[in-house]
Amino acid sequence: MTTHATPRKSALIIGASRGLGLAMAAEYVARGWRVTATVRGDGRTALHDQADAADGRLTVEAVDITVPEQVVALHSRVAGTAFDLLLVNAGITNGDVPVTDVSTETFNRVMVTNALSPMRVVEALQDVVLRAGTIAVMSSRQGSITLNDRAGYEVYRASKSALNQLMRSFAVRHAHDPHTLLLLSPGWVQTELGGPAAPLTIGESVPRLVDTIENHAGEGGLRFVDYQDHTVPW
Ligand SMILES: NC(=O)c1ccc[n+]([C@@H]2O[C@H](COP(=O)([O-])OP(=O)(O)OC[C@H]3O[C@@H](n4cnc5c(N)ncnc54)[C@H](OP(=O)(O)O)[C@@H]3O)[C@@H](O)[C@H]2O)c1
Repeated sequence: MTTHATPRKSALIIGASRGLGLAMAAEYVARGWRVTATVRGDGRTALHDQADAADGRLTVEAVDITVPEQVVALHSRVAGTAFDLLLVNAGITNGDVPVTDVSTETFNRVMVTNALSPMRVVEALQDVVLRAGTIAVMSSRQGSITLNDRAGYEVYRASKSALNQLMRSFAVRHAHDPHTLLLLSPGWVQTELGGPAAPLTIGESVPRLVDTIENHAGEGGLRFVDYQDHTVPW
């Protein structure tokens, strides 16, 4: 009797040296996927330790998403693989500073890292994602204009709102493209970015975030959803 093993699904996760990206890479490997995940630079990270323990199912790549040449180079290195999922997780914060106190340099750095660069990654790498696959980008509930009744983290919020708007423009420009597009809100999670006061642990967010991504696999269209698979208002 001939048996046909189901081919492993594969994910490309951008920004996985630590925090949510590192845990997302571990979660997909634990679910049987083949994962390529990225760090910045050539230093050793926790992702390298995870790869050593993953039986060849986790490959480490390098990219700084703010350097377009590095994004192009990453594309050529992974172009031979058809991924079921591209997840752009990389992001930064400048803390809880009113926009009036933020330097132009800081404003530019947060906007370029959180809004422009993820979109450049999506544009450059969309063709390595299967047509029935998913392109997901880590946004934040803080990017919701509707839910902003407390201010705080003004530039970070604005960068995620800009990311959401750019992703909507991408979806409109690629209206006939069958990819499923997701903007994700992971909840407020204890990471270096989230800080120790966050109510959620990584373990409380990441498995549900992965469930949410998988719930929408193959659906097409663009959604802004949180880790409990609730729609987040724009
Ligand atoms: N934690 C939360 O409560 C929360 C809530 C909502 C949304 N988010 C979003 O979730 C994502 C991950 O956040 P996190 O909490 O896990 O943060 P984190 O622990 O600070 O990790 C950030 C990750 O992004 C990478 N990164 C930053 N800039 C990069 C660049 N230019 N190129 C490539 N990689 C870069 C970092 O790499 P290095 O190690 O090289 O710096 C690191 O792997 C972010 O987009 C964040 O905005 C987080």
